[in-house]
Amino acid sequence: MSFDHFDYKGVRFAKGIYTEESVSHAENEFEVFDDDIYNVTYPKSGTNWMIEILNLIKHKGDVTKTNATPIFSRSPWYETASFKERVKKLDPPRILSSHLPHHIFAKSYFKSKAKIIYIMRNPRDVIVSLFHFTKIVKIYTPTENFQNFLEDFIQGKALYGSWFDHVKGWMQMKDDERFFFITYEELLQDHRGSVVRICKFLGQELDDAQIDTVVKHSTFQSMKENPMSNWSNVPSYVIDLSKGSFLRKGISGDWKNHFTVAQSEYFDKIYQEKMKDLNMSFFWEQSS
Ligand code: A3P
Repeated sequence: MSFDHFDYKGVRFAKGIYTEESVSHAENEFEVFDDDIYNVTYPKSGTNWMIEILNLIKHKGDVTKTNATPIFSRSPWYETASFKERVKKLDPPRILSSHLPHHIFAKSYFKSKAKIIYIMRNPRDVIVSLFHFTKIVKIYTPTENFQNFLEDFIQGKALYGSWFDHVKGWMQMKDDERFFFITYEELLQDHRGSVVRICKFLGQELDDAQIDTVVKHSTFQSMKENPMSNWSNVPSYVIDLSKGSFLRKGISGDWKNHFTVAQSEYFDKIYQEKMKDLNMSFFWEQSS
């Protein structure tokens, strides 16, 4: 998995999208507001899905408000170099995205009352989603060698470093009342029920019809057809959508179409070793 990068506190960042200053600013100087909501994920875990859901909840299902801005500007990633410009256009309460691992997250968050929603996804599906993503995003040198790609992912050579460290780092907060975690698979299995739980966590009271509208406009199909949500307004020198879609399949279990039996067994072994000190079990551990 090849991209022009720099390392910051053991984590890989892509040159051009981030600078050492932008990441350091995000960690050390960025001011978190008490009413901020943070959408935190390891890449390809459902970040954009959650952006859509959170912004629809904020506007009680009013799609004219959410569609006024492309999805990546609605809830920008606060560690990126472009954030300084984008933040000026945000209305409170701010819904911000981040892929930062726990140890680099904004120091001021830990003294605030702001809330975090953290989504996790079966890492095998994260790998597959990322594998296809690297074919359309121009910062990457695309590869067809899935074995090498898998090895790089395991070794933490992906953008934002190791999936295992990301999940283990953030799960330190699992019992904090400002922290809500959910899996991509739970969202798929019970989209409406998940939206209701998220509203409850945020203290947002939506009636049944408003909840229905949030769900309707955050389905895979609806987002895929929505030019404000499907990244089609990003220039082709950044993302080349002639080579694939940003909203690609939106399913659980596509890894079975990519991993060989040997790769699956190998990944299982690594997973068990790396996750053994985390006393939690996840949906995909039973079903993979
Ligand atoms: P696939 O590549 O497996 O299709 P992120 O937003 O973190 O980059 O994650 C992207 C993944 O989330 C992609 O997975 C994308 O299709 C999926 N996704 C985005 N919106 C979705 C939705 N409404 N329902 C289901 N999956 C969605």
